[in-house]
Amino acid sequence: MSLEITQVHAVEILDSRARPTLSVTLTAGDGTRIRAGVPSGASTGTREAVELRDGDQARYRGQGVLGAVGHVNGEISRTLTGSSFATAADVDRALIELDGTATKSRLGANAVVGCSLAAWRAEAALAGRELWQHLAQAAGTAPRLPVPHFNVVNGGAHAANSLDFQEFMLAPLGAPSLPEAVRAGAEVYAQLKACLSAEGHTTGLGDEGGFAPGVDRPEDVLRLLVEAITDAGYTPGRDGVAIALDPAASEFRHPDDGLYHVAGDALTSDQLIDRYEAIIDRFPVWSIEDGLAEDDWDGWVRLTARLGDRMQVMGDDIFVTDPAIITEAISKKVGNSALIKVNQIGTVAETLDAMRICREADYTQMVSHRSGETDDAFIADLVVGTGSGQIKSGAPARGERVAKYNRLLEIAGAHASLPFGLPTG
Ligand code: PGA
Ligand code: ZN
Repeated sequence: MSLEITQVHAVEILDSRARPTLSVTLTAGDGTRIRAGVPSGASTGTREAVELRDGDQARYRGQGVLGAVGHVNGEISRTLTGSSFATAADVDRALIELDGTATKSRLGANAVVGCSLAAWRAEAALAGRELWQHLAQAAGTAPRLPVPHFNVVNGGAHAANSLDFQEFMLAPLGAPSLPEAVRAGAEVYAQLKACLSAEGHTTGLGDEGGFAPGVDRPEDVLRLLVEAITDAGYTPGRDGVAIALDPAASEFRHPDDGLYHVAGDALTSDQLIDRYEAIIDRFPVWSIEDGLAEDDWDGWVRLTARLGDRMQVMGDDIFVTDPAIITEAISKKVGNSALIKVNQIGTVAETLDAMRICREADYTQMVSHRSGETDDAFIADLVVGTGSGQIKSGAPARGERVAKYNRLLEIAGAHASLPFGLPTG
């Protein structure tokens, strides 16, 4: 079967932070119309594929994406409608070649990823398959429902509070099913709101729908989380509801002194690793993402050596879903897990490649949204199809976040035989 594209058209829409992004509509040869929304990060890795923003200060404070939209409707449209492609992966290759840069900066990674997402969705539709089934077929993977990781307290670049760690997530590892995991996330989220209020904290939300209280010390947030988990009737820990952290440490390592600034302390890499060790001794934290900065590779080697056999040591900013960087990390024993974001690398084909490399090296993986999102739920199908077993899509609140969890619930409801949870073996 081949993928014939008769039209590709983008428009500028808004993301969940009131910033412009792209909606791409692709029309296939049989008239099937497919839409994709493009996400956007705030605490981005420096080696990520590059979004094209207009820089015109008179529009959206320079954040407009009319240039990227123009590339889709011009060059990309001419390339994709001019020929027939054997597969969506071939569309991705054509996009990479047309762009011609290592970082997709010429056409814009935002333009490229929108077209890639739409092409894969179109291919699935033409094959008469659900997207997750199609991705499983393409990747040669066994589908599985993931453990959702609910980001219920926001700090760092995602909130206006003084909390340095960016994300505190609930991980219902002990839930018997996806629906029960979602229920646990939602119930603890509601309980957490009550716990925060009871201690006099504000319950306003950060960018990913988690609460953004004026608490400085990460340990104080963890205490509140354990309290909320318990009060909601769950067991804190891997048999019930565990906790995952994304400190996003690149954001609080100061360039002037090279130290990590956490709640008034200035820490070396080793002192921060000590702090993490004390945290996991005391709290049921099972995963730490970006525990050190993206350029602190020596620190990462020590972090992995010290804590890697006790927990998941996950790279986000440091790996940026780049097959070459992940390969290098594996050879240097940096981390034991990768966060996966399609727009960090720019195409679905390259993302599947990064995921295959992780699988082959026994690195675990978590599929992720971005802090700026649309209602597009592609990542829900991606995580199920690839069987990677973990997803994070923010809090169990706000439309752009729950769109992903709700898609997972739909898949779970329609396919009761799908396994749930972390991959075994
Ligand atoms: P971002 O953050 O989408 O703002 O880059 C998410 C993350 O760090 O995981
Ligand atoms: Zn991260």
